[in-house]
Amino acid sequence: MSLRPILIAPDPRLKAVARDVAKVDGEIRTLIADMLETMYEADGIGLAAVQIGVAKRVIVMDIDQKEGKRNARVFVNPKLLWASEELASFEEGCLSVPEIWEDVERPARIRAEYLDRDGLKQTLEADGLLADCLQHEMDHLNGVLFIDHLSRLKRSMALRKLAKAKKKETV
Ligand code: NI
Repeated sequence: MSLRPILIAPDPRLKAVARDVAKVDGEIRTLIADMLETMYEADGIGLAAVQIGVAKRVIVMDIDQKEGKRNARVFVNPKLLWASEELASFEEGCLSVPEIWEDVERPARIRAEYLDRDGLKQTLEADGLLADCLQHEMDHLNGVLFIDHLSRLKRSMALRKLAKAKKKETV
């Protein structure tokens, strides 16, 4: 396993539309292990392969780790089967958009199908943080960041703050 550098917005690679994984093989399992290690190291609750520059439809998540226990979830080729009309709002952040936290409204409940790390098809019904986080990560696979859901004003404020932080880092 190894840590992979996380891309920070704006970066054209974060806009890439990721490709489906043809087969969950050793290479994909290594990618998954690296992504989990990278996510835990960065203290995140979700990471899409796109965020480490790999344009494949792979997501890792652990929404429980903040409570001190580990419950890693892996989603390969996730597809949304259904989303509720009812919306829910969560304050979101992103490892690729550091230091920015904003409320985002998304469908409150979803049903999705995906392959697990053994390549087996699974379906999942989710609400709450799990539904929000999975939708945030699935957006990454289509080159969409959570700040793209904000009003134009809030989005440009976030991008300016991000550019400032990036500049400070490189000085
Ligand atoms: Ni993100």
